[in-house]
Amino acid sequence: MNQDQKKEKSAKEAYKLIEPSIRRDSVIGIGTGSTTNYFIEELNQARLDIKGVVCSSEASAELIDNVYQVLSLNEVHSIDFYVDGADEFNDRKELIKGGGGALTREKILASCSETFICIVDESKFTNLLGSFPLPIEVLEIARSAISRELMKMGGKPIFRNGFTTDNGHQIIDIHNLPMEVPYELEEKINNLPGVVENGIFSKRKADIILSATDTEIKEIR
Ligand code: 5RP
Repeated sequence: MNQDQKKEKSAKEAYKLIEPSIRRDSVIGIGTGSTTNYFIEELNQARLDIKGVVCSSEASAELIDNVYQVLSLNEVHSIDFYVDGADEFNDRKELIKGGGGALTREKILASCSETFICIVDESKFTNLLGSFPLPIEVLEIARSAISRELMKMGGKPIFRNGFTTDNGHQIIDIHNLPMEVPYELEEKINNLPGVVENGIFSKRKADIILSATDTEIKEIR
């Protein structure tokens, strides 16, 4: 089974998991990325009778393609289920996200959700987060200053050239950043002036991780 097939398997499992709890007033939060795209396919095929969806990116909203009402977060009280992929996860259900650059909206939706289901294939597992370069969304004016601070912390910042987030900001990807205590690092980076958000999901980590292997779906709760 290749990686895409595993991503699809995990997305289908997420749909199966939430389906029995869906009601007419349900709001589903939709992440961003290739794994989430498989979840959107499932959802679109099902044509559920729900209040609507809230999307973490323009790209995901486009894929919903009017099958569901795409709501703004301001229009809803909370999100019942937020389903999204990740670039890395550990067995504490902490994540690195933002490979696709949607980390800020993803973190906001995750934080407003009752249940955050993370869908991945097994290759994303790590004991120690940080092999995947950490994405940080920054205000353009502060990019160099933030990069210097990240270098002091031991990381190697690389500017994601030519990329602008849906919020109109830039991304720097930090390589080789020591990440022994993700919770503390998440807060420390977000305290740097000009940082919009960073891709460590430790304060609001996943509630359930569905990780697809060749033979099964591992469910981490
Ligand atoms: C986007 C993300 C994605 O969830 C992450 O990059 C995983 O993507 P994929 O499902 O394509 O492997 O955080 O900002």
